[in-house]
Amino acid sequence: MDSFEFNKIAMAVLGTVFLVMGLNFAADGIFHMENPEQKGYAIELAEADTSAEPEEDAGPAFEPVEPLLASADSADGANVFKKCAACHNVNAGGANKVGPALYGIVNRDIASVDGFSYSGALKEYGDGKQWTYEELNGFLWKPKTYVKGTSMGFGGLKKVEDRANLIAYLREQADTPAELPAQ
Ligand code: HEC
Repeated sequence: MDSFEFNKIAMAVLGTVFLVMGLNFAADGIFHMENPEQKGYAIELAEADTSAEPEEDAGPAFEPVEPLLASADSADGANVFKKCAACHNVNAGGANKVGPALYGIVNRDIASVDGFSYSGALKEYGDGKQWTYEELNGFLWKPKTYVKGTSMGFGGLKKVEDRANLIAYLREQADTPAELPAQ
């Protein structure tokens, strides 16, 4: 190889090195330009978080049902239950349908009906818990918000009176109705 040939190759190698360096430099530039934008975004998020705090302190987004139960109308609740009846039996000895049998549901262990195939979400949520008035109220308010991942395909009952009447009706569908909450 003569020195002219060698120089040509050396130049080609050097050229490649400069090209790579140049690309790196350009990439660096882009990176540095993006970085401040991301930081700004992070600060915005943090600000949004602090402004959301008072709302969290205001408690749950749905009204408690306990104060209404004593004067709730279970006959009206039987009417509300029509929305559930396509999927649930509530009579003594009633079989599972799309949803599990609900006889004696108040204070029953969550996800405990033999032979019903519960979602993993409800089984996990219910581990060691019962369907107290409070739990029923939350679940019937918005099933999919209260137990994320539940397979119960029902939108929920927005009106606290509907939930109170329905829960009063469910309470009566039991061998021994659960005690009403202390006022
Ligand atoms: C479209 C069918 C459907 C409708 C309508 C429906 N459910 Fe359900 N329900 C289900 C299914 C399915 C499950 C099981 C959920 C899971 O495993 O995540 C369930 C679970 C439940 C549970 C938990 C039972 C247990 O053994 O832990 C309660 C309580 C319940 N439903 C009450 C009601 C009430 C009250 C209504 C009416 C307001 C209603 N559901 C409407 C399908 C339905």
